[in-house]
Amino acid sequence: MTLKSRQMLVSSALPYANGSIHIGHLVEYIQTDIWVRFQKLRGHECYYVCADDAHGSPIMLSAEQAGITPEELISKARQEHEQDFMDFFIGFDNYHSTHTDENQFFANLIYTRLRDGGHITSRTIKQFYDPEKEMFLPDRFIRGECPFCHASDQYGDSCENCDRTYSPTDLIKPFSAISGATPVEKESEHFFFKLPDFENMLKDWTSSNLQSETANKLNEWFESGLQEWDISRDAPYFGFEIPDQPGKYFYVWLDAPIGYLASFKNLCDKTDLDFDAYTHPDSETEMYHFIGKDIMYFHTLFWPAMLHGAGFRKPTNVFIHGFLTVNGKKMSKSRGTFINARTYLNHLNPEYLRYYFAAKLSNKVEDIDMNLDDFALRVNSDLVGKVVNIASRCASFINKRFDGQLSSSLAKPELFNKIANAGIAELYESREYSKAMREIMLLADEANQYIDENKPWVLIKEEGRENEVQDVCSMALNLFRLLIIYLKPVLPVTAIKVEEFLNIDPLSWQDLNEPLLDHKIDKFKPLMTRVEKDHIDAMIEDSKENLEATTDDTNSNLSEHLLNNPVADEISIDDFFKVDLRVARIVKAEHVEGADKLLQLTLDIGGEQRNVFAGIKAAYDPSSLEGRLTVMVANLAPRKMRFGLSEGMVLAAGSGGSEIFILSPDEGAEPGMRIK
Ligand code: MSP
Ligand code: ZN
Repeated sequence: MTLKSRQMLVSSALPYANGSIHIGHLVEYIQTDIWVRFQKLRGHECYYVCADDAHGSPIMLSAEQAGITPEELISKARQEHEQDFMDFFIGFDNYHSTHTDENQFFANLIYTRLRDGGHITSRTIKQFYDPEKEMFLPDRFIRGECPFCHASDQYGDSCENCDRTYSPTDLIKPFSAISGATPVEKESEHFFFKLPDFENMLKDWTSSNLQSETANKLNEWFESGLQEWDISRDAPYFGFEIPDQPGKYFYVWLDAPIGYLASFKNLCDKTDLDFDAYTHPDSETEMYHFIGKDIMYFHTLFWPAMLHGAGFRKPTNVFIHGFLTVNGKKMSKSRGTFINARTYLNHLNPEYLRYYFAAKLSNKVEDIDMNLDDFALRVNSDLVGKVVNIASRCASFINKRFDGQLSSSLAKPELFNKIANAGIAELYESREYSKAMREIMLLADEANQYIDENKPWVLIKEEGRENEVQDVCSMALNLFRLLIIYLKPVLPVTAIKVEEFLNIDPLSWQDLNEPLLDHKIDKFKPLMTRVEKDHIDAMIEDSKENLEATTDDTNSNLSEHLLNNPVADEISIDDFFKVDLRVARIVKAEHVEGADKLLQLTLDIGGEQRNVFAGIKAAYDPSSLEGRLTVMVANLAPRKMRFGLSEGMVLAAGSGGSEIFILSPDEGAEPGMRIK
């Protein structure tokens, strides 16, 4: 088997410098790392780069709040991130930052080339400005009442309560989240990247490689029309000043993806790698970006267009994954499922998580769920119970009875060949990790079955059958070695321990071709212990503590809910009676095609049916709602939503996302009863 060596540049998205790495992020870094390790094991030349995403208003403001400079903040974050990644065995070839000379160089180069090519334009726009803080406010830093459903304290661009998007100027009683001041509208000149110039090129690029879900999404975007992209921000801003435009800065998302190139350039400068060979437009090398579904627009439209417009090669492909949920719900601080990388590491072995994510990941954009019971079960039954078990059942016979010596031929070559040619490489290559893990575990079952059938522990007691014991155990250890080659991208540290125990050079994919015979192995040491439930529980407890600590030291004894949502102005009983609240039965609950947060409910209020869209998708599985009673506002004016007419509203408490609790009347209530 000789393979043509490929040359590839691979990246994961650059984590923001103002937050800790959590297990949601790790889905991506682990997914990418497995792929890169696989490519390297296959003998390809593959470079994995990443960096901290260091610019933008949130980072500037976080630093200010902490009383440090942005440079101090990003340098601390970078150290923490690098340590976290290292401890999860994410094997970057280079980790850099977007706040670096290389990145400024490429940001300026790409910008000026786009400008000179006629792809940059400017115009004056009106934006909210905080007169106290003397800065323009990003949408996320403007809060106010939703113009549609009147929920209080919503973001400037979208309402978490009713899922609508709007412009910050539509908000009722807007205020600055930074100073509390009422923002004023102010004009300023902004610079725009003319994305529509690249429509044809992008359509071509889209049709060539992308995941089908991605291509579909892009087609939707093409249909609704590509817009010019605002790439400038006014001072004060933490970022790079635009060349020849004093006081104007590149928007963080302009220089963020350029950080991939900057990190690679930094690597090239430290080694003898040729940057141009990987980045010029006719390069035969491959370039891949792994990202989450939330940042697809940036990577599948802006980024290829910027690269193309500035005379660089485009990505070969962008691999998009879904989001992580824990126990079926969005990660939550109050449930203790918002688990930071460091908290996890304080309690559990990183390879457990690497294996679990591998066992869940496919090449689809689907979300993946980490069920903590399933996590323990999978790791214990697969890794400990199936794989490690093969070695621990056989090694001691070889160690003790045969002085570590393996037989000089295979007892069952056809089984060796079957496992060595199981097509696992194709599954890794196409990022079908869950299929790969399932296949590997079936192969491990076969290896265990082989041991069960040949019973070395019985043979050893029978006179004259010593050699058979050596043959059976050598055969089984050879199968074990094949399985470890397959698992090496996922379990790099276990693989090293096995290499030590087998007393061999680092395993590579090529080693599938040859068995290990007539060879002296080392003493077997335990490779991996079981996941203990108390460690998981302790990790969850620790993750809860994080939250208590932060709320305790920042505020009084008001609950989080009251703080975020103070009690509204007083109303009269007549005002209250204007609202007609009814007991309703949820007769049908369904997903809404294309809506991230909504479920479509059919409510029965005693013979009359209502169609209602409710933003509760993250909190409820629709089938669990059907048949149950709840409470609705029955006389709310119908509103036309993107997905249809909504004829009322169901009552629910909570802060949004998966933290939503719909109300239920006590037993005995019937559809149609009025609530007074
Ligand atoms: N800084 C930007 C990326 C710039 S890339 C040029 C960013 N940073 S992030 O820290 O918010 O996210 C980094 C990556 O982690 C993104 O690809 C994002 O999709 C992924 N994830 C963040 N939370 C996640 C989950 N809960 N689940 C899965 N992936 C998640 O976006
Ligand atoms: Zn709303």
